[in-house]
Amino acid sequence: MIKVMLIAGARPNFMKVAPIYAEMKRRPGEFVPMIVHTGQHYDAAMSDAFFDDLGMPKPDIHLGVGSGSHAVQTAKIMTLFEPVVLEHKPDWVLVVGDVNSTIACALVCSKLGIKIAHVEAGLRSRDRAMPEEINRILTDSISDLLLTTSQDADENLRAEGVPSERIRFVGNVMIDSLLEHLKIAENSTIREDLGVSARNYAVMTLHRPSNVDDKATFGGLLEALIEIAQELPIVFPVHPRTRAKMEEFGFDKLVAGSNIRLIEPLGYLDFMRLYSGARLVLTDSGGLQEETTVLGIPCLTLRENTERPVTIELGTNVLVGTDPQKIRREARASLASDTKRELRVPPLWDGKASGRICDELIRES
Ligand code: UD1
Repeated sequence: MIKVMLIAGARPNFMKVAPIYAEMKRRPGEFVPMIVHTGQHYDAAMSDAFFDDLGMPKPDIHLGVGSGSHAVQTAKIMTLFEPVVLEHKPDWVLVVGDVNSTIACALVCSKLGIKIAHVEAGLRSRDRAMPEEINRILTDSISDLLLTTSQDADENLRAEGVPSERIRFVGNVMIDSLLEHLKIAENSTIREDLGVSARNYAVMTLHRPSNVDDKATFGGLLEALIEIAQELPIVFPVHPRTRAKMEEFGFDKLVAGSNIRLIEPLGYLDFMRLYSGARLVLTDSGGLQEETTVLGIPCLTLRENTERPVTIELGTNVLVGTDPQKIRREARASLASDTKRELRVPPLWDGKASGRICDELIRES
């Protein structure tokens, strides 16, 4: 029986940890899983709502680190996590994604000689100004088992000199959560609550520091989006970082009176119900590029690069960058085209990745 500590820290981690935890619970003869929440995200809307929606139990251990600069946050997680690992002595620590909690916990384990499995390994934007890219490169370089979502990730790792036997292409565990909850999300009344009907609105999310921390970039994006919203109303659940920046730059006034509707961050099921009915999604999120690909919803990514090229090659994603003119042009082109592209779901984004992840852990133990 292997003891696995699953690390959940920030919003995009929860829907990746949930199906792996559930699968381990279904295999009690093989696994003893426990969930450690670092507390990187702590607002009810950014954390508890997801645990509830995903049917996860309360974390076994909560480190309660909260916000801070990258150095403060990472150091705090490491300091608080080390005694937990020493006390519980897991056989494996499983980290997901690319947030500060991912690298902080992996680094602690590598120094203590505890085996690390990294789920969503090998993704590369090749943009080192992006904090997540640093987290990805470092986490992969110290992980024992690199579990990948797409074959381009395998190639990235091999190009960096990672031995092939440490790389396992298992598919996309976030899609396990998506497929499991799609039907349940139909019970959400979010569309009715907002007064929108399927295919008659767009959904937008924006939270990357490169998009919202710089006043000129953020302002340019909003101006383009306000124009697009004249043709198709946009619903915009606002991340706390983005909300703070909007207030600081006075952009809440810019948006007031436009067809962009600002709402609070949504839970997992309400948000799924919302984006799954959208005519168009505009985002700088990584996960949403993948979720829209699986559902065949057109997605414009407001970034200059993506670590998820398979969503462009096979899926519905178009990289439009942050140039307001290009965003307007691409949004109009997307709205004008009615031709439904054949749905092409990337290999192993089939709802069964958590089973393969568990199999690989057993094989390695
Ligand atoms: C983090 C991740 C990012 C991920 C995003 C998803 C890193 C480096 N970044 O970015 O990869 O896409 O989560 O949301 O790990 N805040 C709250 N309440 C919360 C959490 C944060 O108000 O529950 C506010 C705080 O002011 C905080 C700011 O948001 O300073 C940023 O939070 P932080 O966790 O540092 O980074 P995110 O931008 O959320």
